[in-house]
Amino acid sequence: MSSNVRNVTVMKLNAARQIHGRLRLPGDKSISHRVALIAALASGSSEISNFSTARDCASTLTCLQELGVSIERHDQRLIFAGNQKFLAPRRPLDCGNSGSTLRILTGVLAGYHFTAELIGDESLSSRPMRRIIEPLELMGARIEATDGKAPLKVHGSAKLNPITYKLPVASAQVKSAILFAGLNAEGRTTVIENTPSRDHTERLFNGFGVPVTTNSDHSVSLDGPARLNGGVITIPGDVSSAAYFVAAAMLLPQSQLTIEGVGLNPARAAFLSVLSSWGADISTGDVQTEHNEPFGTIIVRGGINGVAGETERTLSRAMIPSLIDELPLLAVVGSQISGGIRIQDASELRLKESDRLATTVLNLRSMGAEVEEFEDGLWVAGPTPLHGALIESRNDHRIAMAFAVAALIAKGETQIEGSECVAISFPEFFPLLESLAKR
Ligand code: S3P
Repeated sequence: MSSNVRNVTVMKLNAARQIHGRLRLPGDKSISHRVALIAALASGSSEISNFSTARDCASTLTCLQELGVSIERHDQRLIFAGNQKFLAPRRPLDCGNSGSTLRILTGVLAGYHFTAELIGDESLSSRPMRRIIEPLELMGARIEATDGKAPLKVHGSAKLNPITYKLPVASAQVKSAILFAGLNAEGRTTVIENTPSRDHTERLFNGFGVPVTTNSDHSVSLDGPARLNGGVITIPGDVSSAAYFVAAAMLLPQSQLTIEGVGLNPARAAFLSVLSSWGADISTGDVQTEHNEPFGTIIVRGGINGVAGETERTLSRAMIPSLIDELPLLAVVGSQISGGIRIQDASELRLKESDRLATTVLNLRSMGAEVEEFEDGLWVAGPTPLHGALIESRNDHRIAMAFAVAALIAKGETQIEGSECVAISFPEFFPLLESLAKR
């Protein structure tokens, strides 16, 4: 049930007995952004099925259309003609709330000899962009920003210099911006990360005809100039969207949940092994690949069996990039784990759609959890009974969804303020949750 107060939707949720059902999910958001950009740049035509329904991915498509790319929709498939020409946009390119759109598209536009302005909403305009400006300027683009933030004015260059660049913080968006720019550079572009972030760009470039090598030190390289081929692809279901249902099923004994056709890229599905180490009964099967991206079935049986060891209860360092979008949810689950859990080395969370460390701590406390906040993480005690509360989503889709899961195990009603923000990644979230939750 939801009500509308001052244009902000408040979703009201109550506890559930179990999660029960079998489902497939809309296409992965990270893969969809990249496949749309690849299809727009490719020499041949492309046909994309199960493209993400996320508003963020719609932002990528709208920006491409503003750049003169023609995209047709036929029976749920997106069709891109090959060999499209990018034209100087007449209006600013509106990236909405989407960091992936703004950062990766800037990498693409670095290689075009025109000026484009990229803008975003209030949240996106407060996020750090120096991390892409620095490497892309080293490659030969010129990028104007205000205090290192959007709006960005990108003055591209048709001939970029290849670079070898060490990322100060692991970021798939920054790595991808450099790799997309590397397609237009003469020579070898290499990106070095301390801890590998999600590798969709590398896998998809390889699948669409541009070899990207992963070196023994985890760095990745491509040789430019290089042109992608088009192709036919079905995008695997979004594993980060699946995470909310998996966690809900784990927390409610008697649950039985099957999710088919969902992405199982190890750089994204790491939360499955974390939840298993905390006592979840999760199995995966029927694994296949699509353009180098693994996907398959996730089966969850409800309940927490066993107690996690001390090391398993700390999420830190090398684990963080592959869990980055699931950390608020893992903190919610952590409040039900014997001995609680700790998150460290995760100050990047402060730079997401909201300050996710602050919003997670605030909302867990409102629900009765004992939590401590640190500069780079948090500690939450467990197991603690939660009670219903007014949740501040701060317009952050992952916060709204993580606390919708908490609502299912809380005593009394939970209200999620600004719940409409889930559409940023998962517009179907609340109806699907209601159809799976048995009361
Ligand atoms: C994304 C990468 C992650 C993630 C974001 C999507 C991507 O950001 O938080 O939701 O599609 O590349 P960083 O890797 O830049 O931290």
